Amino acid sequence: MRLIVPLQGVVQGKGGLLLGTLIPCALFYFLQLYLKRHRSSPKNLPSRSSSSANLSELPRSSSRANLLSRGSTGRAQLSSRATSISKPSDSPYYIGLDRAREDPYDEIENPNGIIQLGLSENRLSLDLIEEWFSKVFTYSSVGIKCGPMISTYQPMDGMPSFKKVMADFMTQVMGRGEVSFHPSRLIITSGATAAVEILSFVLADPGNAFLVPAPYYPGFDRDVRWRAGVELIPVHCRSCDGFTLNIMALEQAYNQAKKRGQKVRGILISNPSNPLGNLLNRELLNDLLYFARERNIHVISDELFAGSVFGDEEFVSMAEVVLRSGDAADKERVHIVYGLSKDVSIPGFRVGVIHSFNENVLAASQKLARFSSVSSQTQRVLTSMLSDERFTRDYLKINRERILSMHNVFVAALRGLGLECLKSRGGLYCWVDMSKLISPYSEKGELDLWIKLLNTAKINVTPGSACHCIEPGWFRFCFTALKESDIPVVVERLQRVVETCEPSCV
Ligand SMILES: Cc1ncc(COP(=O)(O)O)c(C=O)c1O
Repeated sequence: MRLIVPLQGVVQGKGGLLLGTLIPCALFYFLQLYLKRHRSSPKNLPSRSSSSANLSELPRSSSRANLLSRGSTGRAQLSSRATSISKPSDSPYYIGLDRAREDPYDEIENPNGIIQLGLSENRLSLDLIEEWFSKVFTYSSVGIKCGPMISTYQPMDGMPSFKKVMADFMTQVMGRGEVSFHPSRLIITSGATAAVEILSFVLADPGNAFLVPAPYYPGFDRDVRWRAGVELIPVHCRSCDGFTLNIMALEQAYNQAKKRGQKVRGILISNPSNPLGNLLNRELLNDLLYFARERNIHVISDELFAGSVFGDEEFVSMAEVVLRSGDAADKERVHIVYGLSKDVSIPGFRVGVIHSFNENVLAASQKLARFSSVSSQTQRVLTSMLSDERFTRDYLKINRERILSMHNVFVAALRGLGLECLKSRGGLYCWVDMSKLISPYSEKGELDLWIKLLNTAKINVTPGSACHCIEPGWFRFCFTALKESDIPVVVERLQRVVETCEPSCV
């Protein structure tokens, strides 16, 4: 048999196909090897290692030639995820914060500056924090003189001594004598922001989603999406229900996502709610847990304002609800976010917490905490502060009284202008109905009013659309960064805007 092979005529017979293929391949391979060995090396160019060590030796023309030969002609590129993040923000929430930061109101130094009511910061009790520092703080409490114990690497997810006082503090704030938090269940992070981000990364894959009752805290959009790539599906709450979450609406949002092929991995709530200031009661929390159990999804409960509750209603933690349910699988699905930014008024210290009963969530979060750890000096100071039982007890009590008093004065002042607020029981803000002042009744009308408030009244507030509120005309006013003496200035400035509206408006 004669086979037609590349070396036709040389190889024939049964093994012809095999040999006829192998021989040319081998010849080609040896030819390549020979050419490679004998190719002259570019003597005038430094080797890769020497060029990187001594870039100035590389002739400019050859460096350009090299770049061009690799086809790089434009600007150095970012990843596609960073490219979208690097663009200027178009959210009025962040634009307003920046404007107020650039031109901040000060009674004496800058009386025409912007009054910041867009940032949930509590300055009402900073004197108590300052007093603690001046009386109790010593350098040895930071551990500066303690040598290696403090200046060497410490566990990235929090020092054991700090976890212990943090767990006790959470028990004091959120436990109501019903539930206690254990240090072994805590991961310390740099702020609640990092806690939300880590949980998003751990509980969901990119493109998965969390259901979130809306209006919601505008920062969630960044914290959940940017790095973890998780989507947020707003579940709209309405003024006719006092903006209370409706389980039917939750179900509808879940089913619609499923129809779109989107996987819902959890529900993200803030309780007390930011921006509403209302509390999710025990019944609603039970319903939420039942909903999550039925669909085998997670619940992230952000309870950052738990110690800033001031009304007649008691705060109930999701941790308490899940412990009472007695269901082991439920315990695995509930994760609490807490921190010291709001209740202890120290957002600059960047302390947040994840509390979880789920060992796998703890194990993954512990590792991820390396990207957002809190310095050991900060932990040492705060260990000292939080273990001062008398201080924490008095601080929490006085702080609540001051928030309540400021809330009452502020809400009454707004009422004097014809503006009503949703009844709030916690948090550092109120949710104000300004729908009568907007024209047209739409998101555009709302943003026009926000711009007027910012430019004419020089007051920065958060428009409801930045919180994904479905009804136009609602605004979040944070009142705890104000002094009581600032309130008449706010009222006088708001009055100017109210007067520019149609007389029938108010
Ligand atoms: C509900 C909620 N979660 C998280 C954060 C972020 O807190 P932190 O400053 O501790 O990162 C905030 C801040 O306003 C918040 O309101």
